[in-house]
Amino acid sequence: MSPTNPNGPARPVTKAVIPAAGLGTRFLPATKATPKEMLPVVDKPAIQYVVEEAVAAGLDDILMITGRGKRALEDHFDRNYELEETLSAKGDDTKLSLVQEATDLATVHYVRQGEPKGLGHAVLCAAQHVGDDPFAVLLGDDLIDVRDPLLARMVEVQQQRGGSVIALIEVQPSQIQLYGCAAVETTDEADVVRVTDMIEKPKSDAPSNLAMIGRYVIAPQVFDVLRHTKPGAGGEIQLTDALRVLAGRDDDGGPVHGVLFRGRRYDTGDRLDYLKAVIRLAAEREDLGPELLPWLREFLGQRRS
Ligand code: G1P
Repeated sequence: MSPTNPNGPARPVTKAVIPAAGLGTRFLPATKATPKEMLPVVDKPAIQYVVEEAVAAGLDDILMITGRGKRALEDHFDRNYELEETLSAKGDDTKLSLVQEATDLATVHYVRQGEPKGLGHAVLCAAQHVGDDPFAVLLGDDLIDVRDPLLARMVEVQQQRGGSVIALIEVQPSQIQLYGCAAVETTDEADVVRVTDMIEKPKSDAPSNLAMIGRYVIAPQVFDVLRHTKPGAGGEIQLTDALRVLAGRDDDGGPVHGVLFRGRRYDTGDRLDYLKAVIRLAAEREDLGPELLPWLREFLGQRRS
């Protein structure tokens, strides 16, 4: 039997919000004049993977929350006539289609955050664009492998059960302080839990080892909650704190369910994980893997001796 939605027939999810206003201090000096979202993962900027993921889940109305120094993001998803004309005059159709790919993916809108007051504040900047429908939020530091479609499952769970949906992974207890953490109860579906409590970056009071990762499908009632959310962890307005309020409700934006994710995820916000992501994805590519893998083996062999 499929689960019931307490809020009646679901309104469809068509919009995705991508906060991209962060300063990217972990990648300085590379990010001094370049947005961290533009750092290449193999040969594509990290942000393009995220937009592709939203589109693959059926969401092609994208709102990016940007800020100062993020012009390159707009340029990337815009046409570049000069480059396109040069490539087409040369007859280089392969490169031409790579250049056009980002433009043709989705309709991308932009709003600027102004002040960096936290993820909750960034999401609140989307209120006018989003309106009254549930919407997705994708954080650019988390890349989810296309072969493990998490967001589509989250949209499905939201449509079936209403309210809001977060994504959870199991982490080592020592790592939970880096994430938002959820207390949960099981449901009749193995990959879905009901969230009973949430805490952002817990110190010694983590209720579980279930960490929130950067994918959300959220009811629009969150905006009213965010307007009244006081700064929390790190002195910032936290999305987790607003979702916690929704988790305590049976309707009106709640309840909150979690989808347990066991697929491949790459954290490109961390330098070491970023390197791992580039190597893993390059190793799997047909045009790079066959030469990269033997080189890697040889390199590692030399390191051991
Ligand atoms: C944000 C969220 C946190 C979540 C994390 C996932 O934190 O606030 O709840 O666990 O993303 O990547 P940040 O990493 O931006 O500090």
